[in-house]
Amino acid sequence: MNKEKESAVNFFGKWAETGKDEGMEEHHSDSVKFMLDQILNQASAKFNFIDAGCGNGWVVRKVKLHPLCEHASGIDGASQMINKAKSLDPAGSYFHNDLISWDPDSKYDFVHSMEVFYYFKDPSVLLKKIHKDWLSEKGKLVFGIDHYLENKSSLDWPEKCGVFMNTLPISKWHDLISEAGFKNIRNWQVGKKKDWLGTLVFYAEK
Ligand SMILES: C[S@@+](CC[C@H](N)C(=O)[O-])C[C@H]1O[C@@H](n2cnc3c(N)ncnc32)[C@H](O)[C@@H]1O
Repeated sequence: MNKEKESAVNFFGKWAETGKDEGMEEHHSDSVKFMLDQILNQASAKFNFIDAGCGNGWVVRKVKLHPLCEHASGIDGASQMINKAKSLDPAGSYFHNDLISWDPDSKYDFVHSMEVFYYFKDPSVLLKKIHKDWLSEKGKLVFGIDHYLENKSSLDWPEKCGVFMNTLPISKWHDLISEAGFKNIRNWQVGKKKDWLGTLVFYAEK
C-alpha cells in the first residue's frame, strides 16, 4: 500500500530541531563550493545573492564573506530552519516562506539552491518563477541535486524518508530549465565515486 508522504518542509523542520541540519553543511560543502565557484568567480561588481531552501543558512553566511557581496538572503519553508538561521546570524536576512508562493521585493544577481528542487511535484513552476520574478536582467541560477534517475544509489530515498521526490533524468532537468527560458545551460556531476554519480549541478543564465 502507498503510504501518505510527509512534506519535505515538515521532514527537515524536525532535522533542525534535532541538530541534523548541521550534517548537511558537512555533506554538501564540496558540491556547494563547486557551485558557488561557477557564479562567484565571474563576479566583477557588487552582487546580491539568495539561497533557495537555505536550511540553517550556512551558505548565506559563507557568501556574505565575499568582498563583492552587497546582500545575501536565504529562504526556507521550515520555520525551525529559519529560526536557527536567525539565531546564528541575528542581523541576517532570512525569509520563512514557500518557494513557489514567495514574491521577492527586489531581484537577485545569483540564485543558488542545494538539494531542494526535486521536492517539487512540478519543478517547472519554480524554475519559471525564479526566471521571471527572482533574477535580475543578467541573473544566474546554479542548483545541485543528489537525487536523480541516473544516480541509482539515491533512488530508494523517497521510500526510506517517506518524502515525495521527483525522480527525473538529467535530460529532463535540462529540458525543464530550457523551457523556463534560461540560456547557456551547463551541467556537471560533482564528486563522482564508486556507486555514486555525484551531485548533478546545473548552471543557467536568464
Ligand atoms: C535537503 S535540505 C537542504 C538545505 C540546505 N540547502 C543545505 O544544503 O543545507 C532541503 C531544504 O529545502 C526546504 N524546502 C523543501 N521544500 C520547500 C518549499 N516548497 N519551500 C521552501 N523550502 C522548502 C526544506 O525545508 C529544507 O530545509
